Amino acid sequence: MITPISGFSKLGKEEKITWLSKTYLKDSPQAEAVLRQYWNINVQLQQLHEEFTENTLSNFYLPFGIAPNFLINGELYAIPMAIEESSVIAAASKAAKYWFTRGGFKVQVLNTVKIGQIHFLYSGDHKKLERFFNACKPVLIDSVSNITRNMKERGGGILNIELRDKTDLMEGYFQLHCSFETKDSMGANFINSCLEKFSETFKAEAIKYDEFTSEEKELEIIMSILSNYVPDCIVRAEVSCPVADLADEKHKDPDVFAEKFLTALKIAEIEPYRAVTHNKGIMNGIDAVVLATGNDFRAVEAGIHAYASKDGQYTSLTHATVKDGIFKLWMEIPLALGTVGGLTNLHPLVKVALQILQKPTAKKLMEIVAVAGLAQNFAAVKSLVTTGIQQGHMKMHLMNILNQQNATPQEKEKLIHYFKHHTVTHSSVMEQLELLRG
Ligand code: MEV
Repeated sequence: MITPISGFSKLGKEEKITWLSKTYLKDSPQAEAVLRQYWNINVQLQQLHEEFTENTLSNFYLPFGIAPNFLINGELYAIPMAIEESSVIAAASKAAKYWFTRGGFKVQVLNTVKIGQIHFLYSGDHKKLERFFNACKPVLIDSVSNITRNMKERGGGILNIELRDKTDLMEGYFQLHCSFETKDSMGANFINSCLEKFSETFKAEAIKYDEFTSEEKELEIIMSILSNYVPDCIVRAEVSCPVADLADEKHKDPDVFAEKFLTALKIAEIEPYRAVTHNKGIMNGIDAVVLATGNDFRAVEAGIHAYASKDGQYTSLTHATVKDGIFKLWMEIPLALGTVGGLTNLHPLVKVALQILQKPTAKKLMEIVAVAGLAQNFAAVKSLVTTGIQQGHMKMHLMNILNQQNATPQEKEKLIHYFKHHTVTHSSVMEQLELLRG
């Protein structure tokens, strides 16, 4: 008989590992040792990490690197990235250097509105609900004054609350659609706290509202939660230069390159299979910076992909043109980020990442993250329409293959030298390793 474990979260870390090992790892001392191997010797630091979440057994490392030479609105940045995929940081660095000599990245935050909604059911008279909402709106805002005080001092707070009739989509379905300005914080906790207080007040005020019948007083709150769709929290990033300047030592004919690049972008605009991969390349840059700066990459992913299908079909996030001899590549994306609150004040590496970025405001971080995405897209499409991506990718992947084969430092040195002039494939690396090992 299968019995679930109860009280697991109450067990100590060692007890959890013992249970796990017995239940799923065939009592493997090796697996247990690996879990322990990743504990930080600094006990306080280890405890800090364990307390970020529940049932922590170990730490999960990702490489933390930087891509230097990013010229963004005339300022020079080294961008921290946390990512495991070979060649992403190399590609970002290459794109940064390429655009450094071509005017750099121009970027602008267009707006910073965040959204939260209270979803509720009401089956009475619509006009009456509207009258109730208008009377109740100042009471709602007043009810969260404790929560909004600090945010208001920082220039943020509640921007608006709208009653939205969604009964064409579902019988009785209405929303309080609330917009917020959360300044340097991502705002999830602030928004959700406001929403939960709004819904409590809304419900209480409905019961007191004389115009409502007893049935109407029973409007039913289904849920109150922020939206990770932030189409009014947009940043625009762009690179441009004369087509003639696109040439570099590898790609001598700039007109051919520009034309192929534009066609590749057009394909990503019209073909969802390509658009998803195209945008995944953009997310390589975005997620890496979002993660390194302690932000919520799942929220960012969800919001950006929703935005990519806002017109009814999933499409490319980047666009390119050539007009009057000027090549331009740009992207507008929604980004809800914070540089205060959450992990930003807690995780020591996140703090260093933000220091590297000169302690940016949330707006500045939006700009930097968007640039990392655009750079990644430029690098990926440039490779795709010229050499193909495997050349660069496999060069970076060589180390992974060598590590999988437990190559010694001497073997690594020899093979890295050999593959400077030969194409890396899994079988060619294995062949050379076997040759070396006789
Ligand atoms: C790989 O991680 C990302 C790319 O596939 C992006 C693209 O195809 O544009 C290279």
